[in-house]
Amino acid sequence: MKTIKEYVAIRKAEIKAEVDQLENKPKLVIIQVGNVEASNRYVKNKLKDCAECGVPAELLHFEETITEAELLAEIDKLNKDISVTGFIVQLPLPKAIREEAVIEAVDPKKDVDGFSKLAKVNPGTPQGIIDFLEFNDVEFKDKNAVVIGRSNIVGKPASRLLLERHCNVTTLHSRTSEANKRLFVENADIIVVATGYRNTIDASYKVKPTCIICDVGININEFGKVCGDVEQELPVLFKTPVPGGCGLLTRLALINNLLKLYKLNYK
Ligand code: GUN
Repeated sequence: MKTIKEYVAIRKAEIKAEVDQLENKPKLVIIQVGNVEASNRYVKNKLKDCAECGVPAELLHFEETITEAELLAEIDKLNKDISVTGFIVQLPLPKAIREEAVIEAVDPKKDVDGFSKLAKVNPGTPQGIIDFLEFNDVEFKDKNAVVIGRSNIVGKPASRLLLERHCNVTTLHSRTSEANKRLFVENADIIVVATGYRNTIDASYKVKPTCIICDVGININEFGKVCGDVEQELPVLFKTPVPGGCGLLTRLALINNLLKLYKLNYK
C-alpha cells in the first residue's frame, strides 16, 4: 500500500494542476470562534493545505463572546456571498451557541464539511478514509468491516460508506459488551476506530494479520505524546499512523468536497 503521506502528496499535486486551470476558482472560508488550541492547529493546517493546492482560502475569526444570532447572521452573509463557494464553521463552538443550529444554517450547496442533514457531500473523515482505501485497491465486497463509534460525523457515515461498497458492516459503540467487541474485532478485515479512547484495541486482541485499521483517534499518552485509539504496533497488514494518518485524509477530503460542490453548483 502507498503510505498516507505519499497518497496525499499525489492527490494535492493533481488538485493543484486542476485548480490552476480554472479561471474562476473555488474559495473556502473558515469561521473560527474563540481560541481552542486544537482548533487553532486544525485551522492553520487547513489554510496551509488550500495554499498548497492553489485554492483561495480565508479565515473569519470571532471572539468567543459572539452570540448565536450574530454568528447565524455571519453564516447568512457567507450563504449569500457569490465569491465564496464553500465554508466551514470550525467546531467546537462556545457552550452558549447551539452547534446543531449553526450546522443546519449552512447552505447545503456550500457545506463542505458535509455535516448538515441536507449535505451533498460526505463528512471528510469517513470519505477521506474510503478514498485512501480505494486508491490502494482495497477490496470491500463481502469483507467484514467493523466501525467502533457511532458519531454523526465519523462512525455513522463510515458504516454507511462501507455498506454502500458491499462490506458486511458491524457498528460497535459504548454499550457493546467486551465479549462482543472481541468477537467482531478479531473477525474483521477492515476496522475504523473513532472512540476518542486510547487502547480501544490493544495487543490482547488477536486481530487478523491481513486486517487494515484506520485509527481516527487523537489522544495524549502518559508521556505527553500524541497517540491514536489503537495500539500502534499491532501485527496487521496496515494501520494508519497517529499523528500523520486519518487527520491528513480528513483535510484532503475537505478540499475534494470544496471542488465537488464547486463543480456541482458553478459549472
Ligand atoms: N473540529 C474537529 N474536526 C472538525 C472538522 O472536520 N470540521 C469542523 N468544522 N470542525 C472540526
